Amino acid sequence: MAEKEVMETSEAQIAVHWGEEEYYHPSPQFIAQANMTDADIYDRFSLDNFPNCFKEYADLLDWYEYWDTILDTSDAPCWKWFVGGKINASYNCVDRHLAKHKNKTAIHFVPELEEEKVEHVTYQELYVRVNEMAALLQDFAGLKKGDRVTLHLPMSPELPITMLACARLGVIHSQVFGGFSGKSCADRIVDSGSNVLITMDAYYRGGKLIDHKEKADTAFEEAKKEGQTVDKVLIWQRYPGKVSAETPMVEGRDYFVNDVLKDYYGKRVDPVPVPAEDPLFLMYTSGTTGKPKGCQHSTGGYLAYVTGTSKFVQDIHPEDVYWCMADIGWITGHSYIVYGPLSLGASTVIYEGVPTYPDAGRCWRIAQDLDVNIFHTAPTAIRALRKVGPDEPAKYTYHFKHMTTVGEPIEPEVWKWYHKEVGKGEAIIVDTWWQTETGGFLCSTLPALTPMKPGSAGPGMPGIHPIIYDEDGNELPAGAGKAGNICIQNPWPGAFQTIWGDRDRFVTNYYERYCKNPDSKDWRDWPYLTGDAATQAEDGYYRILGRIDDVINVSGHRLGTKEIESAALVVPEVAEAAVVPVAHDIKGKEPDLYVSLKPGFEATDELAAKVSKTIVDEIGAIARPRKVWLVSDMPKTRSGKIMRRVLGAISNKADVGDVMTLANPEIVEEITKMVQG
Ligand code: WTA
Repeated sequence: MAEKEVMETSEAQIAVHWGEEEYYHPSPQFIAQANMTDADIYDRFSLDNFPNCFKEYADLLDWYEYWDTILDTSDAPCWKWFVGGKINASYNCVDRHLAKHKNKTAIHFVPELEEEKVEHVTYQELYVRVNEMAALLQDFAGLKKGDRVTLHLPMSPELPITMLACARLGVIHSQVFGGFSGKSCADRIVDSGSNVLITMDAYYRGGKLIDHKEKADTAFEEAKKEGQTVDKVLIWQRYPGKVSAETPMVEGRDYFVNDVLKDYYGKRVDPVPVPAEDPLFLMYTSGTTGKPKGCQHSTGGYLAYVTGTSKFVQDIHPEDVYWCMADIGWITGHSYIVYGPLSLGASTVIYEGVPTYPDAGRCWRIAQDLDVNIFHTAPTAIRALRKVGPDEPAKYTYHFKHMTTVGEPIEPEVWKWYHKEVGKGEAIIVDTWWQTETGGFLCSTLPALTPMKPGSAGPGMPGIHPIIYDEDGNELPAGAGKAGNICIQNPWPGAFQTIWGDRDRFVTNYYERYCKNPDSKDWRDWPYLTGDAATQAEDGYYRILGRIDDVINVSGHRLGTKEIESAALVVPEVAEAAVVPVAHDIKGKEPDLYVSLKPGFEATDELAAKVSKTIVDEIGAIARPRKVWLVSDMPKTRSGKIMRRVLGAISNKADVGDVMTLANPEIVEEITKMVQG
């Protein structure tokens, strides 16, 4: 029963049901230049050839010491890849390209204010800047291999430079999405045990200069309350004098990186060879409790997997100009803006701001001016760009050979607009399904080999073998077209190693549900639970329906309903809070918040606004509810459990079903009237 309720209250409840679609095929021109045209790849990566198949990915990297054991399962389900190998991610993303590509642009940075003043960072310049920053981190900040450092940086070249400087030293970076609040940043500082915070003075977004440094002050104070002291706050300064007046520096704690760096000009730091299994970074993501989890990613396995998938799925060649519009603060940015493209020696584009400001032509103008030929974005951005400027792409001369969609299910109609208008009918599209935990793609078509089908992610990636279980743990027959919980049967090198500092939660959350034998050291006994519902069609393609747990995808950003509820409960007047996902035509989903008040408090608009503001302060603007509904009571079961399923149905104007078994059925009508009018 409990499991069933989970299904009913989840995102999957309002999942999309699209009809079967026709296939689209790549052009002969695309196939002629593609990195992967060998149909054998699926055989080479079959379960029979597992795990040795992944040697192909590892061999895309330069190793100081080659590994001896491809997969060590002795600490199941914490899998270890490429054991015995020594490697450095910074070397692979920077140094190894100098011989051939030192004058090539590694990073194009497009600022918001004066869009035409693009910064072009060559590989040689990247090498110099990464070295100097690494020297600063080592000597001035006192960081060494294995230390954690929290980054709270907006989109700018300084973000990948800082990540690669950390990687050069074997320091574990934990980048917090720039839009998250100071409080969210503090939670991550505390959990990771960071003594150093690296941030920025300000950034532009939608025409406004945003003071970012003030969040560092909040983060510092909040972390201190939890017993974690940040010794140094290092501030990259992009807009000197503009906001610094309002955000004074704290003597002995705050330092402008740009000033301190002067002492490190010309300094070089040898990359530290680290065991393949040493963590490269932590990426916090939402789960089913209020506390975000720090997904710990390895160096060797992760880098091998993102390099391989960037090469074969994104079809990145060193001569390509690749633009992924995600924020580097999310996993997509780590894997497919920074580590994958740079490991392959491509030019990667980073932009400040939003896609639709100052006008709906921004993306296509950037694509034209920088000669971008590979484009990567999320359905939310595609929907927004289609709405504000359906004919804009035609006004610009650019040529995409390849496009990606990621992060949420894409409606076939939106897919077709993307294909016809943005891709001008020429670009191939890959719909890549994956997660923060998985490091890289799980399902996607291979662009030159498997045809596209709008609305479906496609088959499992080579070496990724999905399986769909029903609620009772029975395997659904392949191609049955029935919805169930999609799991992955086997480990793969890009998968996270554990949850930072919480192995039990790692095992319980991801492996307990369908584990065949908890004492087993055999990977076959440990299917990985993704938390998504999916169907598999006869052709083997998977269609992802959405989350089966308390996670919502808002604009492709992952939020925990429990996190938002905990934030609402910070408001003293609030007695109970319940969050449900509501369908939205641009964002995919939005959180709707229901709140009941403690006795003696009156439901007012001011109070609703206060709750909303508190959520933004606690988490960030992305978590702002569509609406805060102050209700006189929550619909509850006789045992007192809030029936989120009923609230979800009301918010989505769907059938609430039978409510007569509730302890307070009359409340359903009252709330329905309030919400639906
Ligand atoms: C969803 C983002 C449908 C899914 C890379 C997953 C998708 C969650 C797709 C992970 C897709 C991601 N089609 N749904 N192509 N890609 N999702 O951790 O629900 O931010 O579990 O990683 O996004 O979100 P996360």
